[in-house]
Amino acid sequence: RTDLTLTMIKPDATLRGLTGTILKEITDAKFSIVALKLIQLTSYEAQKFYAIHQGKPFFNELVEFMTSAPIVAAVLKKENAVEDFRQLIGATNPENALEGTIRKKYAESLQRNSIHGSDSNENAWIESHFHFSDKEIYDFL
Ligand code: CMP
Repeated sequence: RTDLTLTMIKPDATLRGLTGTILKEITDAKFSIVALKLIQLTSYEAQKFYAIHQGKPFFNELVEFMTSAPIVAAVLKKENAVEDFRQLIGATNPENALEGTIRKKYAESLQRNSIHGSDSNENAWIESHFHFSDKEIYDFL
């Protein structure tokens, strides 16, 4: 599938009350929300989600940050979702993010970068099913 992607509004943004603002940016950009939840990840879950970064110097801090407060997880639907969503959120490091992108507007730092977006269609599927069961993804929208 090429029309779904997984996002997480990260703790730095949920804690600053930016959930509604960021969801509006997402729907204004013509993504449909087909699954949505507020959830505080356990350390085990965060380690599993970011398994690809295990062993990197920032891994432990990343897990600590991502478990520090509730996040908002969502599956988004749009033609060319993965690529278009990465354009919308901007570069991982907000210092490199283009003007107008979500990270440029809201992110605090490379780690506290406000939002996640899947980096491939394969990972979009894996990450969507990490957070949601099939019946929680309302794919008729
Ligand atoms: P994201 O690309 O969504 O998923 C991995 C996250 O790890 C990334 O966002 C950042 O929040 C964080 N990250 C990546 N690289 C670094 C780094 N060099 N130092 C600290 N955090 C990082």
